[in-house]
Amino acid sequence: MWGEVFGRTAPLEVDLGAGDGVYAEARAQREPERDFVAVERLLGRATKIAKKAVRNGLTNLRVLRLESWYFIKNLCPPGSLDAITLRYPDPWPKRRHHGNRIMRREFALDAARAVRMGGMLKLTTDDRDYFEWAKKELAECAEWNPMESWKGESEPTSEFEELFQKEGREVYRMAWKKE
Ligand SMILES: C[S@@+](CC[C@H](N)C(=O)[O-])C[C@H]1O[C@@H](n2cnc3c(N)ncnc32)[C@H](O)[C@@H]1O
Repeated sequence: MWGEVFGRTAPLEVDLGAGDGVYAEARAQREPERDFVAVERLLGRATKIAKKAVRNGLTNLRVLRLESWYFIKNLCPPGSLDAITLRYPDPWPKRRHHGNRIMRREFALDAARAVRMGGMLKLTTDDRDYFEWAKKELAECAEWNPMESWKGESEPTSEFEELFQKEGREVYRMAWKKE
């Protein structure tokens, strides 16, 4: 399916809640041998990413204005993804809103189905409580094994990362490998 969209077969990564697409665009530019889908539910942001991709001739970057979990569940055939990236997903800090958090066990199970064996799920967040919560949720999903040594050094920045860096906020990163 994604082969038809991109007109070739290449490793495919998705950036969920892509915002302005700074990260997805940088990855697509740096790694022309890979394909990227940026998923963003806000029309203005999705349009901005699409315009930049066209302007910069990035044929390996596509944008979908869609809800992230719906995309993983319904538009990603089993084993079709190389990696899923979540950068600064909405933390929903109030306990009564925790049901809205995406990095939970049920999502992790759907993500594990969509990602190939050996593929990755990566989280970057400035919210420590969300980070600890996500680690606990993922620990309940046998398919995902934490990559303790992964520090995301080679990851390009993103709009919110720049913002939080300026504010001097601490950032928490973790990747899990599908095994
Ligand atoms: C805090 S921003 C981070 C944006 C970007 N990842 C970055 O690092 O700059 C969160 C983004 O996720 C989008 N978003 C939140 N929930 C979403 C969902 N369920 N599906 C798709 N996009 C979502 C928001 O519209 C927003 O653009």
